[in-house]
Amino acid sequence: MSRAVLATAHANIALVKYWGKKDSQRNDPATPSLSLALDVLRTETRIEQLEGSGDLPGADLVELDGQPAGEKTTRRIRAYLEAWRQEGLIAGHFRISSVNHFPTAAGLASSASGFAALAAGLAAFAKKKIPRREISRLARMGSGSAARSVPGGIAALPAGHQAAARRILPPEKTPWGMVVAVVEAPPKSVGSTEGMIRSRLASPYFNAWVATARKDYRRMLRAVKELDLATVGHHTENNALAMHACMIATRPRLMYWSAATLELLRCVQVWREQGLEAYATIDAGPHVCFLARREELALVAAEVEKVSGVQRVLVGLPAPGAEVVPCS
Ligand code: DP6
Repeated sequence: MSRAVLATAHANIALVKYWGKKDSQRNDPATPSLSLALDVLRTETRIEQLEGSGDLPGADLVELDGQPAGEKTTRRIRAYLEAWRQEGLIAGHFRISSVNHFPTAAGLASSASGFAALAAGLAAFAKKKIPRREISRLARMGSGSAARSVPGGIAALPAGHQAAARRILPPEKTPWGMVVAVVEAPPKSVGSTEGMIRSRLASPYFNAWVATARKDYRRMLRAVKELDLATVGHHTENNALAMHACMIATRPRLMYWSAATLELLRCVQVWREQGLEAYATIDAGPHVCFLARREELALVAAEVEKVSGVQRVLVGLPAPGAEVVPCS
């Protein structure tokens, strides 16, 4: 019988964002980044070695949420498996069946959990033992943010060549979680991969953004270790706004916000003035995530639900890294 493994990983939300590539071919990030993995954003990927598929091109099979994956996703996953084969890490072909236990259509970070689970699972088929840091580097080749989902918890990913993420704080020692406000929005027209290439080439603020991200990263590493929510929160919000300033200034513009995004940004200031400590961050989409103390997440979620244009509210606690279990 053919061998199979089940790998799980959680998507993460960056507190210091990765936006920009030093090298697109190797997917080397231009900015260092730091994130929190969330238990509500879980992906499960079954990886099965196919027997007798030889060297047929396109022999790898890709399924997403129980259906054959679309052409673009299939191409991306096949190219990724090919990169592992070219590095001499694996041989043969595979059936990859991935299920996201969160609304992917909402544009939440499914490539992070997807590639982290895939890299961890493929490592189980490798000819030699692959250390965790190396799995993170390999996940990064698939999607930059995926590198951070390999260690899980609060994870930091430096910029540049050979970058791999390390865990700064384990989930059980992280006193914060996040409320995710999924807002009504049409599918986005420019994805992260394409968007960050455009910003590097055509945003007059790109260099300033990279310099800002480097500073934010250093300050954030310190503030996380000190468990200083106010400092972590303010840097989180400021960093996201700086990234969006760079995106918006890109020509033509990359404007991911909707009216509800702006309203949520206004509300978070009001909540803080009223004593509810929450801080906003936004990825390449209109949804807003709020960082808050674990014990105040329910209060934040109740406020978020009242905001017009919010479609769904998810409450996430810190999640562990990618894990693999054998299966039949
Ligand atoms: C705005 O990791 O999706 O969410 O490496 O091209 O796959 P690729 O990009 P991806 O970009 C994530 C961008 C972001 C910020 C972040 O998660 O750090």
